[in-house]
Amino acid sequence: MDRIRIRGGHRLNGEIPISGAKNATLPLMIAALLTEDTLVLENVPRLADVTMLARILGNHGVDMTIRGKRRGKPNGEGDTIHLCAETIADTTAPYELVSRMRASFWVLGPLLARCGEARVSMPGGCAIGTRPVDLHLVGLEALGAEIEVESGYVVARTPNGLKGAHIEFPKVSVGATHHVLMAAVLAEGETVIENAAREPEVGDLAACLGAMGARIDGIGTSRLVINSVARLDGTTHPVLPDRIEAGTYAMAVAMTGGDVVLRGARPDLLEALFPVMEQAGVDMTATNDGIRVARNGGRLDPVTVETSPYPGFPTDLQAQLMALMTMADGTSKITETIFENRFMHVQELVRLGAEIALDGDTATITGVDRLAGAQVMATDLRASVSLVIAGLAATGETVINRVYHLDRGFERIEDKLGRCGADIERLTG
Ligand code: UD1
Repeated sequence: MDRIRIRGGHRLNGEIPISGAKNATLPLMIAALLTEDTLVLENVPRLADVTMLARILGNHGVDMTIRGKRRGKPNGEGDTIHLCAETIADTTAPYELVSRMRASFWVLGPLLARCGEARVSMPGGCAIGTRPVDLHLVGLEALGAEIEVESGYVVARTPNGLKGAHIEFPKVSVGATHHVLMAAVLAEGETVIENAAREPEVGDLAACLGAMGARIDGIGTSRLVINSVARLDGTTHPVLPDRIEAGTYAMAVAMTGGDVVLRGARPDLLEALFPVMEQAGVDMTATNDGIRVARNGGRLDPVTVETSPYPGFPTDLQAQLMALMTMADGTSKITETIFENRFMHVQELVRLGAEIALDGDTATITGVDRLAGAQVMATDLRASVSLVIAGLAATGETVINRVYHLDRGFERIEDKLGRCGADIERLTG
């Protein structure tokens, strides 16, 4: 299994190209199940999760080709993938595949809409809390699906086809919004989704579905109104840039000091991060081609932050912010309101010398003068990258084990950071 070795203490300077968003790419790929035509996605990041989902979709009969790979393509430009679900070969998504990636559970709705039946294993994914799928199932049932859970599988049928409905989610769920939206675009009549997630990745999916012929109003708001169409066509859609990757590198620069342009990052998708960085004493400015992040000398100031659904501070940046605050001049508080068990990075940051106390959903971080490199490992994607951030500033050598978590969501991280001056290396095997 690969590991990442970092020798800390180098400032970051230069440019980091921001890839297409993983969390937009996954639902967009799944949307290919909704049409017999070809869906072309541009700016697709090269990530293990994308490869995994391609395998899962392949099992249902989706034909995927990667085009447009040219030598000398500017650094960071993603793949163009062609997905064609002309025929659905299999409506079962087996445990062996779904357990490896939670988002693949979302094939259930599109398979139902297209074929009237589906059998999908209950999901796995990152170990961050219990992460139930009750909201997904309630939404699909409201659209007329008959659902049973048998031996770890959700078995769903729509004897009379999917019918539009009024659905009000009791809690904001990104996944349930993606999932029910994809099912609703082909449901007969009007569907209203209240308390829908407003994450930009939901907007990106809705925009792509719109280009495929779906009728969706309220994109970007918490009330989506979907009117049925008989069929969807193919289209070409560029994946929006990854705000979480951009926010992560912003924190890496804040941690080490230096001056970096995050090329292609969209400032409007990171509005919750700007004031936090400003409070911490980091310069973050929107530029013509992305976001510039700079910090020169001095210690960081502490912050108090609570995660919340978009447009609030993203839970997917919580671990990285905590790593940053381990070296602030004072005491920070970070409250996690989305997932109940998203603090696995705490123990590992403490191994590097951080002082963090946990009380329920709140972490109190007392800044220290220095972190010292050590062997660490993490059990989820964002937690792993928080260890990279800490390692970049720690003295000596930090080795991060179980790099496959990083490869699920960060494209060529060692390359992107290495080009800006980090001493970071992948140890293979
Ligand atoms: C997505 C993102 C993930 C991000 C999260 C929150 C992808 C591939 N993943 O995950 O990176 O951290 O949004 O921004 O896009 N919940 C229920 N019942 C359900 C569904 C969810 O109780 O049926 C709860 C969850 O346990 C959690 C909260 O709702 O406490 C939010 O989860 P959700 O927004 O659904 O996260 P994901 O879609 O899994």
